[in-house]
Amino acid sequence: MKLKEVFAAAAAALIGAVTGANAQEPLKIGAVLEVTGPFASIAKQIENGMRLYIARHGDTVAGRKVELIIKDSTGAQPDVAKRLVTELVTRDKVDFVVGFGLTPNAMAAAPVVTEAKVPTIIMNAATSVIVSKSPYMARVSMTLPQVTMPIAQWAVKNKIKRVYSLVSDFGPGLDAEATFKKNFTAAGGEIVGEVRTPLKNPDFGPFIQRIKDAKPEAVFIFLPAGEQGISFMKGYRERGLAEAGIRLIGPGDVVEDDILEAIGDSALGVVTTHHYSAAHDSPLNREYVKAYMERFKIRPNFMSVGGYDGMAVVYEVTRKLNGKIDADKAMEVIKGMKIDSPRGPIQIDPVTRDVVQTVYVRKVEKKDGKLFNIEFDKFENVRDPGT
Ligand code: PHB
Repeated sequence: MKLKEVFAAAAAALIGAVTGANAQEPLKIGAVLEVTGPFASIAKQIENGMRLYIARHGDTVAGRKVELIIKDSTGAQPDVAKRLVTELVTRDKVDFVVGFGLTPNAMAAAPVVTEAKVPTIIMNAATSVIVSKSPYMARVSMTLPQVTMPIAQWAVKNKIKRVYSLVSDFGPGLDAEATFKKNFTAAGGEIVGEVRTPLKNPDFGPFIQRIKDAKPEAVFIFLPAGEQGISFMKGYRERGLAEAGIRLIGPGDVVEDDILEAIGDSALGVVTTHHYSAAHDSPLNREYVKAYMERFKIRPNFMSVGGYDGMAVVYEVTRKLNGKIDADKAMEVIKGMKIDSPRGPIQIDPVTRDVVQTVYVRKVEKKDGKLFNIEFDKFENVRDPGT
């Protein structure tokens, strides 16, 4: 063979290899997560949930090898998130965009995935409005109004009349504040004071003192999962709010499973409403918690379940579409989809593309010497009520 022919043969072989590979191209899933910075624990739980799903269900679906590409938004950084999503859809040409611990990052992604037409699964970010911002978004986690409305009803039923509200000053906190206020006051409750704390580096001390001085029967609280709950609960203990007869109520983020042991016994008796507890009593959840703890050596929280169920959606869509992902067809498959989740059965609302689920009432108690949110009542088929 002449040199020219050798090149031609090599080129042909290369093209053949590439076309052959086409049929088997990896299923690319691009995740935007807060991997570093103050919200890293959120990202870790979501990533763990995704990886556990892949480990338990195989890394190939409809003949395509699953490839997870994780991009670090480094915190509540909408500009960074927007750039990363743009890279994922233009350069990496991902089949799905997933992730989003935090609302500002999910909001920044909406116009990009709409323009690029890429199905996008929100695995945590929980401000009500997010999924309405793109027809290519669906959510498997929760919305703050969805998990807050039940605690407002529970509080009234349990004769709590005067409440001080403290929320983190960003989307989900504002949703929680508005939902609690609306439902609690409509049923005859009174908000005796309210405060919004900064998302970055909050110092809760002065706020906690103000709450104590106002002598409410309870403090309603929403803080993002992770460190902030530990720090708030420390102040609550140190300033003697429980001794002053001030109860703590809210959606479950402030006593989520990943931080309960770090908070310690001052969490005992706290009643919250939420969609997931590691203590949820079902065979599926027991298996989930066991597999998760064996693999990652920490307790799974609701964020991990968002990651896990989000991957269940990706797998089901890929199977139904025989591996050929078309955004409009994918959304049709997602609408109305039912998933058997470790939290119990959930469904994606066919109209809003938001999650419909049971919200549980739970109290922090000791089980086998460890602190857990023990579910004792529930509200079934709760949709996002909006704000
Ligand atoms: C959100 O950014 O939407 C968010 C963050 C942490 C939570 C809940 C919601 O615990």
